[in-house]
Amino acid sequence: MDAVRVAVVGAGVIGLSTALCVSKLVPWSSITVISDKFSPDTTSDVAAGMLIPHAYADASIHKQKQWFRETFDHLFSIANSAEAGDAGVHLVSGWQIFRNLPTEEVPFWADVVLGFRKMSEAELKKFPQHVFGQAFTTLKCEGPVYLPWLEKRVKESGGLILKRRIEDLWELHPSFDIVVNCSGLGSRELMGDSEILPVRGQVLKVQAPWVKHFIREGSGLTYIYPGASNVTLGGTRQKGDWNLSPDPEISRDILSRCCALESSLHGAYDMKEKVGLRPFRPGVRLQKELLVQDVRRLPVVHHYGHGSGGFSVHWGTALEATKLVNECVHDLRTSAPKAKL
Ligand SMILES: Cc1cc2nc3c(=O)[nH]c(=O)nc-3n(C[C@H](O)[C@H](O)[C@H](O)COP(=O)(O)OP(=O)(O)OC[C@H]3O[C@@H](n4cnc5c(N)ncnc54)[C@H](O)[C@@H]3O)c2cc1C
Ligand SMILES: *[C@@H]1O[C@H](CO)[C@@H](O)[C@H](O)[C@H]1NC(C)=O
Ligand SMILES: *[C@@H]1O[C@H](CO)[C@@H](O)[C@H](O)[C@H]1NC(C)=O
Repeated sequence: MDAVRVAVVGAGVIGLSTALCVSKLVPWSSITVISDKFSPDTTSDVAAGMLIPHAYADASIHKQKQWFRETFDHLFSIANSAEAGDAGVHLVSGWQIFRNLPTEEVPFWADVVLGFRKMSEAELKKFPQHVFGQAFTTLKCEGPVYLPWLEKRVKESGGLILKRRIEDLWELHPSFDIVVNCSGLGSRELMGDSEILPVRGQVLKVQAPWVKHFIREGSGLTYIYPGASNVTLGGTRQKGDWNLSPDPEISRDILSRCCALESSLHGAYDMKEKVGLRPFRPGVRLQKELLVQDVRRLPVVHHYGHGSGGFSVHWGTALEATKLVNECVHDLRTSAPKAKL
């Protein structure tokens, strides 16, 4: 049997994890990752990479919880292995705090993270402006470490990596049998998907090695996420803003919001500003499509639009995209192309 040639467009956390999943779970497949940008230049490199889900408006909570659980379990086992440092995946504990009582005291993902509980009165003394809080342990994935690690794993399992910008998916025909579209925000041009929009996020990466706990305001707008070699301070959510240059005014505002939560950050040093554009959509697009042009056929699996929570669900959605690739392989093998009209 000839190998099925699969092209994965995109080398952010979604493209690389999908490429790895497909290479492991689709028999007789050969994988090529094609992307115009790679780590450290993707949105995924700017992200804090915290595993705290953001609810998507158009997917069931049951499905989202499954994606989160699959991702959490997968990364938890990496965090517990000797690979943890190379993969940039580790456990982190901290607090999510609220100025007003939240409508939901227990979020849908509470039993996926570890040790979720209400904060005690004594703990809340740390945050005099806040009336309620939750303590838990979750995982953090360092994009600039995790992405190259995924890339290495893809290569080890026989995959190829190509640097190229794709203007039109038909460029990949007939060199590839199946295309997986993980182009994130690039999908706006590539697929003419006008539902996808940038939500600009500016963050600071600072040195503050004494900060060991994450602190996140319930709204998710202000956060302090300590990582392996720096602390991410955030953030902003600016819908429809494509500007990738850091705004010094915003950086000052972020720092003052974070210092209000953790005074010791006044002593943070070596501050770097970063901007990323989240690929926002009402829901992740996970869908098969058969592109048809004259007699040509090109099966595409769409896998993009993870918005603010790509790291939190990436392995779960990659497993689902891989299922769709397997269905495409089945379709290719069971029907003569002409009969598929
Ligand atoms: C400031 C900030 C903080 C965040 N924090 C978190 C967090 O703590 N936890 C969390 O879960 N999520 C977080 N996110 C969200 C997360 O970053 C995204 O959901 C995720 O990175 C999306 O991954 P992606 O692979 O789809 O997109 P990207 O990383 O943007 O990758 C897209 C890839 O497609 C390629 N591409 C696009 N168009 C083309 C084309 N035409 N031809 C070839 N290649 C193309 C690009 O070069 C790139 O390699 C954060 C985002 C930001 C901005
Ligand atoms: C990916 O999907 C988007 C949205 O449908 C589309 O605009 C884009 O052209 C697709 N990319 C590729 C490489 O097919
Ligand atoms: C922050 O830490 C990450 C992960 O260790 C590292 O790859 C990145 O280069 C650091 N960024 C800055 C601005 O120091």
